Amino acid sequence: MSTFSLIAVDLLVAFLCVVAWLGAAITAATGRGVAARILTASAVAVTLLRLAVVLALAGRGWWFVQDKVTLGLPLVGLAGAVAAGVLVTKGVAKAVVPLFAAGFSATVGLILPLLWGYPQNAGQAMISLSLVGVATVAAWRFTSSGPVRAGRLLAPAIALGVAGVGLGFLPLQQVSADSSAAPITTDVASLRGPSVPAPGGSVRRFELAAQKATVTLASGTRTEAWTYNKTSPGPEIAAVEGDLLEVTLTNVDIESGVTLHWHGYDVPNAEDGAPGVTQEAVLPGGRHVYRFLANQVGTYWYHTHQVSSEGVRKGLFGTLIVKPRAAVAEGADLVLPIHTFDGEVTLGTPERTVPSGEPVRLRVINTDNTPHRITLAGTDFRVTAADGNDLHEPGPVSGKALRLAAGARYDLSFTMPGNPVALLVDDGLSLSLNGAAVVADTSGWSELDLLSYGTPAPTPFGPGSRFDRDFTLVLDRGLAMVEGAPMFAHTVNGLGYPNIPSQVVREGDLVRFTVVNRGIETHPWHLHGHRVLVLGARGSPLWLDTFDVRPGEVWRVAFRASNPGMWMNHCHNLDHAEQGMVLHLAYEGVGSTMSHAAH
Ligand code: C2O
Ligand code: CU
Repeated sequence: MSTFSLIAVDLLVAFLCVVAWLGAAITAATGRGVAARILTASAVAVTLLRLAVVLALAGRGWWFVQDKVTLGLPLVGLAGAVAAGVLVTKGVAKAVVPLFAAGFSATVGLILPLLWGYPQNAGQAMISLSLVGVATVAAWRFTSSGPVRAGRLLAPAIALGVAGVGLGFLPLQQVSADSSAAPITTDVASLRGPSVPAPGGSVRRFELAAQKATVTLASGTRTEAWTYNKTSPGPEIAAVEGDLLEVTLTNVDIESGVTLHWHGYDVPNAEDGAPGVTQEAVLPGGRHVYRFLANQVGTYWYHTHQVSSEGVRKGLFGTLIVKPRAAVAEGADLVLPIHTFDGEVTLGTPERTVPSGEPVRLRVINTDNTPHRITLAGTDFRVTAADGNDLHEPGPVSGKALRLAAGARYDLSFTMPGNPVALLVDDGLSLSLNGAAVVADTSGWSELDLLSYGTPAPTPFGPGSRFDRDFTLVLDRGLAMVEGAPMFAHTVNGLGYPNIPSQVVREGDLVRFTVVNRGIETHPWHLHGHRVLVLGARGSPLWLDTFDVRPGEVWRVAFRASNPGMWMNHCHNLDHAEQGMVLHLAYEGVGSTMSHAAH
């Protein structure tokens, strides 16, 4: 059973536990003895079942059961044992209040962890105990059947709760995000790229002006967008390996400001376009020049990083394609950024004609916040690259779907057959080659497992390496402060931006991240400035810059800290980032003179 199914089963059993214990209490209080006995017996059974489920879940990692083991189960287990004991030895009437206590324990153990997520702390445990205590005293008052001294519990229970609020919500307070003790010797602004191309390369200059404009989608629909140069996607930035890219950004009328972030491109830190960290956002009338070497071949994209959840959604993005210097057979090379405008999924070109026998490369880019399902009907193909990185010996794929994480890219290659070929996004026709609407039903196709695709090849480090730094990121939802305001946030280790402590590394360190998704939403995790190697891939080595951590999943990835700076490390569902799921990877000695501005 998958971890997520276990989480779901646990929630269901926990809910049944509440129903059974409260049901037993209510039937006991209303004098229905037989029903109370039956319900108590089932409550005991359900509680034992919950214990079994939690034990199974514990096998998947402590993160998934921490609150249940330290509080939820002991609480309902203890209260339930007392209630059942009293019922058996002293009869139904005497058991009413203990049964209510068990019911409230079950309720608190189910609901509160959903509210504050991982990790649960002592203060939250105190609040839970307090709530159970207060509710139990109230039940005693209403039924007046409890032990005479129960009323005396009220004051200490309330005091416990108040203390718990103080203690438990301390993590909600602002804490310094800069945990680096080393003195700052390098300013981020000084970490710039070279100003000349590599030998044999040339300088490629682009000018991007951010502005509002009406754009026409492939369907003919016109929509108000935020654009670079009045088009969305913005102009394609194309270069050959070794070129120097020089991109001048101006802002015409985007009041909240804009930047350019080169998604997946390991640029020098000052060129990274992270507002408040590597540069100030470019406001209307402003200008910023980005300069970096096109030294990574492959499929990338760029987008604004200022108020990015709104800016990217409205259209402030474009593609960045770098081709190898060595001439390769040209063929058809299509760049296909998937973007949803006002609920309409667009892919640029709806139709193309390609002579049969020609090599075709489709560069599919997900610029949305959620994953897309990609299928190709009419031909076998190979996934030749993921996130711009070539895969090792990719085998032919047919009748399989690809899941493309938000922000991620795949290059699909094949030779154009004699028949039409259709690319479907979320099982709807999006691009047809050599033929109108090829009707293919791909909805039943299973997903290609990229972790076992291709064949192994040597990597500079692997699962067995000794890591200089080891960080765990537990992704969840819960109450947390995000930029000074309390909210039901998307949290990392229980905290929201900018209160999540920076991960501090030293140049040269081998770093491992363990990313755990304890929630029920997918989190496409994205680290700036570095590609990470997925540890435990059984097929081709998998170097990614964005990977989907689905509910219940645990990902282990590693990278060499070889690009000094202050880097954003965040969920690329940009709405989640907006709601707290952002932290920094900081190199020792590197600091920013800028304030931490809005993401
Ligand atoms: Cu494409 Cu920080 O993002
Ligand atoms: Cu997320």
